[in-house]
Amino acid sequence: MYYSDDLIEEIRSRNDIVDVISSYVKLTKKGSTYFGLCPFHNEKSPSFSVTPSKQMYYCFGCGQGGNVFTFVMKYENMTFTDAVKFLADKAGISLPEQEYSPEEKRKADLKSQLLDIHKEAAMYFYRLLKSDKGQRAYEYLKERGLSDETIKSFGLGYSSNYSDDLYKYIKGKGYSDEVLKESGLFTFSEKGVYDKFSNRVMFPIMDINNRVIGFGGRVMGDGKPKYLNSPETVLFDKSCNLYGMNIARGSRKESFLMCEGYMDVIALHQAGFNNAVASLGTAHTPRQANLIRRYAKDVYLTFDSDNAGVMAALRAIPMLKASGLNVKVIDMRPHKDPDEFIKTLGAEEYQKRIDNARNSFLYQIDNMKAGTDMSMPESKAKFYNDVAKKLLEFEDELERNVYIDAVSEEYMIPKDSLIKSISRMALTYEPPKNKYESTNIENDKAKEKKKVDKDDGIRAAQKTLITWLIDEPELYGKIKGIISPKDFVEKPFDIVANLLFEQLENGNINPASIINRFTSEEEQSEVASLFNKNLLEDMSLGEKEKTLNDTVIKVKKNSIDYRNSTVTDIMELQSIVKEQNELSKIHIRL
Ligand code: UTP
Ligand code: MN
Repeated sequence: MYYSDDLIEEIRSRNDIVDVISSYVKLTKKGSTYFGLCPFHNEKSPSFSVTPSKQMYYCFGCGQGGNVFTFVMKYENMTFTDAVKFLADKAGISLPEQEYSPEEKRKADLKSQLLDIHKEAAMYFYRLLKSDKGQRAYEYLKERGLSDETIKSFGLGYSSNYSDDLYKYIKGKGYSDEVLKESGLFTFSEKGVYDKFSNRVMFPIMDINNRVIGFGGRVMGDGKPKYLNSPETVLFDKSCNLYGMNIARGSRKESFLMCEGYMDVIALHQAGFNNAVASLGTAHTPRQANLIRRYAKDVYLTFDSDNAGVMAALRAIPMLKASGLNVKVIDMRPHKDPDEFIKTLGAEEYQKRIDNARNSFLYQIDNMKAGTDMSMPESKAKFYNDVAKKLLEFEDELERNVYIDAVSEEYMIPKDSLIKSISRMALTYEPPKNKYESTNIENDKAKEKKKVDKDDGIRAAQKTLITWLIDEPELYGKIKGIISPKDFVEKPFDIVANLLFEQLENGNINPASIINRFTSEEEQSEVASLFNKNLLEDMSLGEKEKTLNDTVIKVKKNSIDYRNSTVTDIMELQSIVKEQNELSKIHIRL
């Protein structure tokens, strides 16, 4: 069902957020804001806020927030459409049976069409698996120890060995090639259209709201590539989804198990560990870490036992810790991965490995030591120094002392000389620039990291500017000639900036209505966090002015670079050159 933006906004504005949330959470008024205990994470003192003037909620503890739709989606575990219906009902607004014809609706919303296509495809693959044609694939899954129940709950399927079977089927449902091209499920070439996946066992990838957004497909046997995955599409953003999260989020366990592969997640779930998730064949990202942090404080890494798995764990640890997660590492040796482990030793033994998981700091030190020849005095001394340096990363003295004790005991490093080294180094210590950086383990990855650093900085600048404009709308008058919505090139800031600039221009700021435009909890929460930060409280006017100019220039410069790399139009090129010349002249006075 497709509802117009106006209708959605009316439903939102007729459901006062304080009224709605009060029926779930006990709220107490403090000044202009209400506070209560966050229903989405465990806490003893209230950090969950509801602001009537913004019609938004935000938890300063777990970073979740949104408007009244977000709250209902999250609390009642509903989709956006269901939350719209639920709140319309509450406010006594009757919804039209159908606002648009199916054809109009399709045109209106590429994303919802792609969702439908993925759902159709998943059901098609599932049915095929259960049919005669899928017999071999079904046997393959059975041989790998999966029950019918598991196959069903993960929606596993089979893609036929005819090269355009799915295409014909989906096309028959009336979708246009234009849309099908965007789905990532087909290859369009001069010779014709082919299914991207053929003769593979299919793993639908779902978002946290159980909607299919992509697929992984495995060959049965030894062909290459072993797994083929959907490309990124408007539906499928690999950096903010985790395989298995749709189920794991409801496990109500205090921790998550993070593994590498589809089959690992499935095997763990089948063995009762329904809190297992995996990243989607790519490195783990801060956004995935934040997603986990929404539901739990602890995460256990259960990556492959080989060298690549160790490296992946060492890369993931600092990034996960930066999101406030406690990280531990599970040792599955001599087995390769959780799937194999469970198959040979069973769930009980696996639980023991969880109970004995290694603290991630000590795991990092273990690996530093593994690369050291302790019989050589110089390398031994270097190891001790590296350990001291690593201990400096703990800002909290108590915590650091606990680790000093642990490390000196485990590695037999004399405690007083360790403390001396630490105090000496503390004088010249500079914390790692990138907060995701660990010490000397990742030198080979330095290049890749620099790029991430830059991207993070640019995202942060765009985010700051939006937050600032909401906090101090007067600023709009000063920057409007310099910055425009098209300078916000990163998602979701591009959409937010478009809507916000329009509101600023009309002088009616309404952050909660901006959130309506996003239909997943994940996006809504990210956008809400933009609207709930107090950036500027403790800054002097001079500091503020400098920060503003730095931020504007950073956003502008990135926008120029980006547009320069994608420009095809001569007018646009001229405008870019002009903006480039004006870059050095930007000076905004407050
Ligand atoms: P692994 O090679 O460890 O596979 O890749 P696995 O999970 O043990 O697979 P099985 O047990 O042989 O079936 C781990 C993950 O990396 C991604 C997939 O997400 C996979 O689950 N991967 C791997 C790919 O995307 N493509 C590949 O060719 C291989
Ligand atoms: Mn495996």
